[in-house]
Amino acid sequence: MSPEVVTPQASRENPDPQEAANPIPRWVLALALLLALWCSYYILRLNVTTATEYGDQRTASDLRQQPKAAAGGAAGAAAAVDGAAIFSARCAACHQATGAGLPGVFPPLAGSNWVNGRDTTVIQIVLHGIQGTLTVNGVTYNGAMPTFGPQLSDAEIAAVLTHARSHWGNTATAVGAQQVTAQRAATAQRNEPWQGDADLSTLP
Ligand code: HEC
Repeated sequence: MSPEVVTPQASRENPDPQEAANPIPRWVLALALLLALWCSYYILRLNVTTATEYGDQRTASDLRQQPKAAAGGAAGAAAAVDGAAIFSARCAACHQATGAGLPGVFPPLAGSNWVNGRDTTVIQIVLHGIQGTLTVNGVTYNGAMPTFGPQLSDAEIAAVLTHARSHWGNTATAVGAQQVTAQRAATAQRNEPWQGDADLSTLP
């Protein structure tokens, strides 16, 4: 056998590479952990207020960018509360963007005797919610509307009711935040929804 000849070219070569069983780098693990933690945090603090079974009921006009309310002149002036935006976010899932409701399930706000009726009563409906037999324009409903008192401020309830009372053909008077404040104070002890027609008829 001839002795192995080491050519200059061969001596210059690097050793052959080989695959080793390297562990996943620590920083990749840390990143994955961080991502998982952030996801959990995000989901936990997400504030979903409408029942998912109603789906996304937004219309094209809800998604169009709303013109920014003209900046208030005096410093410290409270930003105007947008009743239409609150309606889309809080009420439209059930009462529909058109205010027409869903026959047999969600009563209409358009033309409703309650919406166009006494402001005190309609404020109480939104503050505490309502369930049981309720007659709206002669049609009987028997559903359950959630209570909004803890979630909406007096100004927000006033704005959404003013919106409802002045749209879809409704022409009732505007509702002011002070009226909501007074109604909230008057029924502060109550912690359950009104029981349909029976309870509403006893309201002062
Ligand atoms: C989860 C569905 C749901 C949401 C959200 C909801 N409502 Fe209702 N609402 C109902 C149901 C159901 C009734 C009828 C309750 C019954 O049969 O006793 C009702 C009744 C009413 C009534 C009295 C009846 C009528 O048609 O005039 C008014 C006024 C009203 N809702 C306003 C609102 C406003 C304003 C909002 C948003 C702040 C809102 N609702 C959000 C389901 C809902």
